Amino acid sequence: VILFLCLSCILTVGRAQDDDYVVNNKYFPDKFMFGCATASYQGAWDEDGKGQNIWDNLTHTLSRTAYRKIRTMETWPCYVKENWVLTTIGFSISWSGKYLPTGFPYKINEAGVQYYRNFIKELKDNGIEPLVTIFHWDTPQGLHEVGGWLSEFIVDYYAEYARIVFQLFGDDVKYWLTFNEPKQTCQQGYGSGEKAPFVQSHGLGEYICTHILLKAHAKAWHIYDDEFRPTQNGLVGITIDTPWFEPNTTSDEDLEASERQLQFEFGWYANPIFNGDYPEIMKTRIANRSALEGFQTSRLPEFTQEEIDFINGTFDYLGLNHYSTYMVSAMPEPEIGDPSWEKDTGIAVFQDPSWEGSASDWVKVTPWGMRKILKWVKETYNNPAIIITENGISDNGTLSEDLDDESFRSHYYKYYLSYLRDAMIEDGVNVFGYTVWSLMDNFEWTRGYTEKFGLYQVDFSSGNRTRTPKKSATYYSKVISTRCLVD
Ligand code: NOJ
Repeated sequence: VILFLCLSCILTVGRAQDDDYVVNNKYFPDKFMFGCATASYQGAWDEDGKGQNIWDNLTHTLSRTAYRKIRTMETWPCYVKENWVLTTIGFSISWSGKYLPTGFPYKINEAGVQYYRNFIKELKDNGIEPLVTIFHWDTPQGLHEVGGWLSEFIVDYYAEYARIVFQLFGDDVKYWLTFNEPKQTCQQGYGSGEKAPFVQSHGLGEYICTHILLKAHAKAWHIYDDEFRPTQNGLVGITIDTPWFEPNTTSDEDLEASERQLQFEFGWYANPIFNGDYPEIMKTRIANRSALEGFQTSRLPEFTQEEIDFINGTFDYLGLNHYSTYMVSAMPEPEIGDPSWEKDTGIAVFQDPSWEGSASDWVKVTPWGMRKILKWVKETYNNPAIIITENGISDNGTLSEDLDDESFRSHYYKYYLSYLRDAMIEDGVNVFGYTVWSLMDNFEWTRGYTEKFGLYQVDFSSGNRTRTPKKSATYYSKVISTRCLVD
């Protein structure tokens, strides 16, 4: 059967959207990890004595109907045990309480610990490698109230939390990620204020938050390296998200705009970790704009030499979340006025209206961007080991419509995987795994349950949250078992 599927794979030809692009003979090496990603808060909120976090605060205290509705719909995440051959499942540990109810290191929730122990054991008994994210946006409310990610104190609290997690689960977990998408925590949580904790401090809060969060990341990495690596022998990385930014024209200005946008989006986090400090372009632009605004110091904080040495090199591998592409073009320098991260970049960013869309306005089907971003990361950061920790597409149909997602979600995965494989084979990018977002429909943050990314449908109106595989689940399981992009 596998031979037949692979032969049909060889004969498969790309769809109209990618006119000249042929998806043929695309197989993945035996050791390549295929899996699904999930996150703690997106499946549950109130289990086993969990404490409050900033998302509980948002969804439960705001009087917006959509959020109130969310409260009645939570369901604890569990993976769907099917006859799959997943090699990994990504999940996050809930700092805010399933495990440490208040977020402070001296209160460990035994029920939470047991939950994760059982879960990890079950994965391992089924041959599935746990890929564990230590922080996926759920800052404990207690820590938020004393400053959250704007307070240097959180570095030590986060580091203590990471140490406890390594101690408790490190004998069975080999792949750790300190943070998921720190840009969303900082830029959307403390700059634009679109995500919890909804702090709006444009052009300032996001830079302070990032400065502190990077130190927390580095501290957790060093703790692992010094105290746990010798016996546990695992790997610690961080997940950074970025779209690809395609220059609108081949002009030097647009090429520079693409590079600059990538540095503001990705280099902001990657550069300190891979090279020790923020990208030069960020330092120069933000210092210049701050001076024109009348600040004596740059809104982008500076690392001391000691901090640079401490942060530099704190990665064993990179988690990359990638969904879509934007076009970029140079534009006249934004006027000096209210500062913001977007104005600091000084670039026009847009998507082509002809690109196929999804229920999430920011996800357009642009699989070729996968190859470009991977190649760029390889060339810019000296070919690190990469796992694609998230990639996926959302729908918002009725329950029965959702299930028939072959030409939509299966097609998306097939083409993104195809370009990913081109990046590995043609461009020599060191990708060792891929986890789709997401195993099942879940709580999509401020969008509630309206954007569904799952391979499995969850019927949130049914008492036991019935889970049904969509056609894409069948397709993905075929890809995994053949290690080939079958039709
Ligand atoms: C990024 C986040 O890590 C995840 O929580 C979110 O649901 C997906 N992408 C889709 O937006």
